Amino acid sequence: MDWQTWHDEYDLPDSLLARRLRVVQERIRLALDACPAGPLKLISLCSGQGRDVLDVLVDHPRRDDVRARLIELDPRNTAIAQSAVTSAGLDQVEVVTADAALTDHYQGMVPADIVLACGIFGNITEADIERTVDFCSRLCTTGATVIWTRHRAAPDRVPLICTWFEERGFDRQWLSDPEAGFGVGVHRFTGRPQPLAPGERMFTFIGYDVLKGAVHNEGVPATEVAKRAGHSVEVLHRVYAKCMEGQQERMNGKISNALFPHPQRALARPALPGRTRLRPAHAMLALPPAHYRQPQQNRGPRQSCACSHPFRTWLSDVKFAEITSVSGSGSLRGER
Ligand SMILES: C[S@@+](CC[C@H](N)C(=O)[O-])C[C@H]1O[C@@H](n2cnc3c(N)ncnc32)[C@H](O)[C@@H]1O
Repeated sequence: MDWQTWHDEYDLPDSLLARRLRVVQERIRLALDACPAGPLKLISLCSGQGRDVLDVLVDHPRRDDVRARLIELDPRNTAIAQSAVTSAGLDQVEVVTADAALTDHYQGMVPADIVLACGIFGNITEADIERTVDFCSRLCTTGATVIWTRHRAAPDRVPLICTWFEERGFDRQWLSDPEAGFGVGVHRFTGRPQPLAPGERMFTFIGYDVLKGAVHNEGVPATEVAKRAGHSVEVLHRVYAKCMEGQQERMNGKISNALFPHPQRALARPALPGRTRLRPAHAMLALPPAHYRQPQQNRGPRQSCACSHPFRTWLSDVKFAEITSVSGSGSLRGER
């Protein structure tokens, strides 16, 4: 998934994503209206281009009370967010290019009054959704509002996510209509905030397209799927390096099984790292990380770290010409 172009759908006013954005913005506005007087802290996890919060802050009466930190991994998105921050003169808004899953990045900003977890829960495993909800009680001050999203595709996990919040001292304030086509939830924290220790990982961002893919059903560890799904080498190195070496061969077998689910399998192998060729049925697992796929002129700063990493070496072994007939993820719908 290219997480910059993912935002383009916001520019189509009738699209599901644009409608979801308007709902999220309205909920942010209402949450700000309801905050007690005085300074406020807002954090946004995986903030993308920050369109939800920045468009609201720009003319909200509380704008100068709000100290905000937007954490987003893709530097192209943070550049866009930073430019919006600068032109709106939102001096108390920090845009940070970093892994939002790591608790280190929230130091000084927690417990917060408003927590945005939009566009995450459809991109991580269910275990990680529950884990992240659990972390929300360390991100939130008493009375804080969490605004979160999740698509409504089957199995609809919105009710379960509500339960997870409500088991942890959050009251449901608002939930979008099940027929809306997307899920937006608003929960208010009624408990006492627990300390947020640095050095912890809340989730591993995988991507809805990969989660929906065949490999997911083959039981390949999420770290390995994410590793092959489109983050930069820098991120692979830093975030997904925990995959144990001994698992490599076993996972290669599982991935091959997912990619070649019939007798052609034997012909297709060997196919994965350490072997020589690849004819994938699932383009996301074979294409290089998203940033390698950008036309040269569109590449962000990440390209500079792309050349010498071992993953890059593996990528160069893949015969990309073989994947041109693959339909890819075009039929997948964006995470809501
Ligand atoms: C579905 S988009 C949502 C963006 C924004 N929250 C919104 O709702 O408009 C997910 C975003 O998460 C970013 N992302 C992916 N992995 C991340 C990570 N580990 N840390 C921070 N951001 C991440 C992607 O680059 C992408 O911009």
